[in-house]
Amino acid sequence: MRRTIIAANWKMNNLTGEVKNFFAEFGDTAVNSENEVVIAPAYPYIALASALSAGKNVTIAAQDVYPKAEGAFTGMVGGKMLADLGVKAVIIGHSERRRIFGEPNELIREKVKFVQENGLHLIFCVGETLPERENGSMFDVLKEQIYSAFDDNLTLAPEKITVAYEPVWAIGTGVTATPEQAAEMHTFIRRILKERYGYEDSRILYGGSVKPENIQGLMANEDIDGALVGGASLKASSFMKLVNFQAVK
Ligand code: 13P
Repeated sequence: MRRTIIAANWKMNNLTGEVKNFFAEFGDTAVNSENEVVIAPAYPYIALASALSAGKNVTIAAQDVYPKAEGAFTGMVGGKMLADLGVKAVIIGHSERRRIFGEPNELIREKVKFVQENGLHLIFCVGETLPERENGSMFDVLKEQIYSAFDDNLTLAPEKITVAYEPVWAIGTGVTATPEQAAEMHTFIRRILKERYGYEDSRILYGGSVKPENIQGLMANEDIDGALVGGASLKASSFMKLVNFQAVK
């Protein structure tokens, strides 16, 4: 049985006061939930979020990492810093990093390797753009993203390898993939994980305009093991509803 993960990606949002308010309101929500709760604040707020969520069943994640322990890498945050801050999971390959910052598959592969070497839970993002969906190449796009990162590069147990399917056209747009569209892609990813890597127990999350109003429909499918949430995770009131949701498969 794969445990559902509800993960918050705060991106470049939530300042000190908002982080404090969030955890004050969030309280013991994760302790009382059946779901695994992950929150990824921006780097400067990781320490605060770690402190405010200590002992409350929340896994604090980073939104990225530079794949070195430490050293002369101006502007970057590396492995030792994440460990020092209590980070247990890292999001890699988010479409905003791929597109806005031009991260190529080779660098993403290095990061996937690094996250595993450091024993951290990997949350690896894949997803197609709207033109790629419209011209029918979405399966090939996903294959390339997954193969280039995972082939001969998976060292951690399946439970610590999570894939997030985030169609770029659904991120921050209010347009959600239909449960059928999401299910088709998740089943495709599930088959690759099983047949190519022998990984049966990895979780596959859906991301892209997930809200309390649409989570139930999306999570009904067997192959959808949770959600990676941007906008609807910023406020505790809405994220709590997502964390408290119970999957009916
Ligand atoms: P939204 O939930 O704001 O669409 O963002 C999804 C996302 O990119 C999570 O990583």
